[in-house]
Amino acid sequence: MTEPTSFPADFLWGAATSAYQIEGSPLADGAGCSIWHEFAHTPGQTCNDDTGDVACDHYHRYRDDVALMRELGLNAYRFSTSWSRILPEGRGPINSRGLDFYQRLVDTLLEQGIQPMLTLYHWDLPAALDRRGGWLNPDCAHWFADYAQILFRALDDRVKLWVTLNEPWVVADGGYLHGTLAPGRHNPFAAPYASHHLLRAAAAAIQSYRAEGRHQIGLVVNLEPKYPASETATDLDATMRADAYWNRYYLDPVFLGSYPPELSEIFGAAWPIFPDADLDFIHQPPDFLGVNYYSRQVVRHDPDDWPLAAGRVRQPQQTYTHLDWEVYPQGLTDILEWVAGRYGSLPLYVTENGAAFYDPPQADGAVADPLRQRYLRDHLRAVQAALERGVNLRGYFAWSLLDNFEWAHGYSQRFGLIHVNYATQQRTIKASGQFYREVIRSHGAALSQQGNESL
Ligand code: FCB
Repeated sequence: MTEPTSFPADFLWGAATSAYQIEGSPLADGAGCSIWHEFAHTPGQTCNDDTGDVACDHYHRYRDDVALMRELGLNAYRFSTSWSRILPEGRGPINSRGLDFYQRLVDTLLEQGIQPMLTLYHWDLPAALDRRGGWLNPDCAHWFADYAQILFRALDDRVKLWVTLNEPWVVADGGYLHGTLAPGRHNPFAAPYASHHLLRAAAAAIQSYRAEGRHQIGLVVNLEPKYPASETATDLDATMRADAYWNRYYLDPVFLGSYPPELSEIFGAAWPIFPDADLDFIHQPPDFLGVNYYSRQVVRHDPDDWPLAAGRVRQPQQTYTHLDWEVYPQGLTDILEWVAGRYGSLPLYVTENGAAFYDPPQADGAVADPLRQRYLRDHLRAVQAALERGVNLRGYFAWSLLDNFEWAHGYSQRFGLIHVNYATQQRTIKASGQFYREVIRSHGAALSQQGNESL
């Protein structure tokens, strides 16, 4: 007899990727440049000056990759479309060869019984639009909605789960505030406008989808629960600022119709007064919310941390990943419960969760990755705990299907359930991938099996 598990019968067991991180051939078949292509080709911007020129060559190997998904037993796959493959100039004439690639991918997924979740924007803005100001140009919201509509019309007969934006927080924070990610701007006066226009863009796409789409459209945000390092007033205030900036910045306007009050304190004179009409427009809750979860922050007041004055306290007893992110599975349960409590019981998905560890293939070619396997086990148990507490969670997507181009870190960070040899493009399912297959096959029962305790 199998143990009852708390995963609903139609739970989605998936893995996630994004276009620029895996596809390669960014300019093939008439595609235009994206800001990530330009950024990665600017010396000094990525680790080892790595670029996405080849990446996992998924553009040519997508059939093999879908076969690997099937081998893992996935019933869902989250990927993103590249705006500049479809609209080389960001707007204007459609490049049908770019669109065809995604038609073929979706058809191949469906043939294998894998449900696609399509993200319309995972950071790779067409470079031609950046030259017009990118996310600082208010028109970008409409450019995005027009691009989205092309995909709705082409694929809504086959794609049932749509995502407007992936992690707008990272786009604004990395791209416009700190400048560590494309397009590399570093300007506190610009960043709030980028965030605002991203939110307007998501709302414009939702509005267009409601007019002609037949399924569901959501938003994906990265959330990181904040815990105070002490009960002092300064640490508690810093925790509130960090929580407002990371967790409420995008969700409060979408679900509650206003920005968190802490933002004007954080940005000071750089925080604009936005028109009420914009907030009304942004306040269009999506059909579902995707949560990307990697780690937590224990917060201590730190005047040297700009602009939040909220430092991160290291936890010596804890495991840290190769990117120096604390492994903290309980935070996933906590953040899912927090979302459900604050924003209501809409369907939730964990749309990304995973860990960078370096595990080279052994002499026999196998890839043992015990730390990633433990990370996966413990975070899936955290998902199970959230389900047991009544969170309306519909699926889990591991980040990532494949080792891939980790943005400014280039190929130095490996998140895959599947190892990629970048010299030969050979794929090898890691031990964590085999474990995930077992969890999926047993519908979660493998999470509580004795043998898995020793990890
Ligand atoms: C997220 C991104 C994803 C990947 C992971 C590690 O912030 O959405 O593309 O880089 O982090």
